[in-house]
Amino acid sequence: MSGPLILGIETSCDETGVAVLEGMKVRSSVLASQVDLHARFGGVVPEVAARAHVEAIRPLVHQALTMAGVHPDELDAVAVTQGPGLVGALMVGYSFAKALAYSLGKPLYGIDHMEGHLFAPRLSFARYEPPAVVVLASGGHSQIVHVKGWGDYEVLGGTIDDAAGEAFDKLARFMGLGYPGGPAIDKDAVDGDPEAISFPRALRDRPYDFSFSGLKTSVVTYLEKAKKDGTLPPRADVSASIQEAIIDVLVAKTFNAVEATGVEVVGGGGGVLANSRLRKRLAEEADARGVGLFVPEPALCTDNGAMIASVASYRMERGQPGDPLTGDVLPGLRLGS
Ligand code: KG4
Ligand code: ZN
Repeated sequence: MSGPLILGIETSCDETGVAVLEGMKVRSSVLASQVDLHARFGGVVPEVAARAHVEAIRPLVHQALTMAGVHPDELDAVAVTQGPGLVGALMVGYSFAKALAYSLGKPLYGIDHMEGHLFAPRLSFARYEPPAVVVLASGGHSQIVHVKGWGDYEVLGGTIDDAAGEAFDKLARFMGLGYPGGPAIDKDAVDGDPEAISFPRALRDRPYDFSFSGLKTSVVTYLEKAKKDGTLPPRADVSASIQEAIIDVLVAKTFNAVEATGVEVVGGGGGVLANSRLRKRLAEEADARGVGLFVPEPALCTDNGAMIASVASYRMERGQPGDPLTGDVLPGLRLGS
């Protein structure tokens, strides 16, 4: 066997994710998405999310163990997202994991969801090692992190208002593209011209920070005026231009950090890193500068249980003990704190 057998549970937002890892090898990874439940509200409803996690978690854990061919007694540890996230949603996964760890007599590892995103590339690339600059962009967070070592993180900057995924989601909703917005804009933008409309790129004078609320206002103002004037461009051009405005900033700030730190490794995690155009732009920029780029496959960028188990796997292999079973969820947890 190549490392401990770990069950990973993720319930911080709108996906119940469960996985079994053997070391850094994914033996199984399953998801119960709540997208359809929340779509009619145009965003995640916390109470609905928590209830859906309650319904999904038991069968999903059973499914993950069965697919991995692992009996619960064989597990070496249980890993679970402790925060940040929606309190009710987190509590479902955390209570379940705590009870399971207690009944099996196995250690419990409470994991920072963002550290999970930060670790996810390790599941795809054995060579992904710090020092690195990692761009994390999801529905709730957007950060540029200097990973000096595993567990040693300096957050260089981040969004001062909306997260990148939130910007995608809000703008897609405004355009009637549905929820979640990121994948919808990604798809719609394929046939569009990213230079059709020049939307603002904010905070040019701050090397590692983003702001997306101005973009939102600018898109809304532009579309309302164009509609009135009868000059609406094809929707694909609007999508492509919005996407480019968000991506430009993420790419620029990531490589500002690469330049400043002198690292030769760039990582990426969080749902927005599933974006096809962002992946292409990062790859081009990394190639041009001769640095290594480590962005995992899209299914490991969006929320999943494997990324949570991967952090615990690393800790366990280094002999770090689990957490006391008296712990609780930490909805406001911040990376590096
Ligand atoms: O990491 P994640 O799955 O959940 C959070 O931790 O928030 O990220 C979800 C976010 C959503 O805002 C979603 O619209 C965005 O990631 N997203 C994308 C794409 N796929 C998911 N954004 C842009 N392009 C995509 N292909
Ligand atoms: Zn996430």
